[in-house]
Amino acid sequence: MHGMASLIDPEVLAYAEAHSTVPSAHLAAVDESTRADFGSWGMMVGRQEGRFLELLVFATNATSVLEIGTFTGYSSIAMAAGLGDGGSIISLEVDPHHATVSRGNIAAAGLESLISVIEGPALASLEQLQGPFDLVFIDADKVGYDAYFEAVLPKLAPRGLIVLDNTLQAGGVLDSATDRHESAQAIRTLNEKLVNDPRVVCVLTTIRDGVTLVRRAA
Ligand SMILES: C[S@@+](CC[C@H](N)C(=O)[O-])C[C@H]1O[C@@H](n2cnc3c(N)ncnc32)[C@H](O)[C@@H]1O
Repeated sequence: MHGMASLIDPEVLAYAEAHSTVPSAHLAAVDESTRADFGSWGMMVGRQEGRFLELLVFATNATSVLEIGTFTGYSSIAMAAGLGDGGSIISLEVDPHHATVSRGNIAAAGLESLISVIEGPALASLEQLQGPFDLVFIDADKVGYDAYFEAVLPKLAPRGLIVLDNTLQAGGVLDSATDRHESAQAIRTLNEKLVNDPRVVCVLTTIRDGVTLVRRAA
């Protein structure tokens, strides 16, 4: 990971990455060009989490996938590989440059009929989207996560999943006294809310920087 301390022993992480199926040539090209062109390349989910997301889409038979936070398209392109017939992805991105670059990468991968990038603030875009969504991947500004969660929960399919990235904040969620970073504070508050929320069942997994899976309670 770039720009944040890795929670996982680097050797273990490298081993896990090396034993997650090698990315497609298109995805490898997105990885390479993003590392070359963006100082913030560490925002990409990368090889292990990309395959994890693909397998979640595959295992849940998701056909209606929503992503909040496209960046250069790595996670969208990764998830597309898990879509069944008739499946599609809508991805929301506020930054016009990120939207343009991701659309280029999606087109280069031949996926423009499967992945649509909607440019603009995610909350405004969400108002226009009805759902139901089978899988929602939340990976935009951390301070906005709670609002995104509340906006998508009513639009989640009965057996749908919400997936939230970076829910460990490089460990910043652990200690409220020593960490004043607003992202860590926002995620710490959301993690507390989710585990006590009778509307949902959740699991915070220690994949990479923390990946939380949420479903509706029965
Ligand atoms: C962590 S990156 C997403 C990484 C991407 N999922 C991947 O794996 O390559 C977060 C993205 O969310 C976008 N973003 C931030 N605030 C947003 C908002 N209010 N609405 C939509 N997108 C937003 C940022 O511009 C950035 O591209």
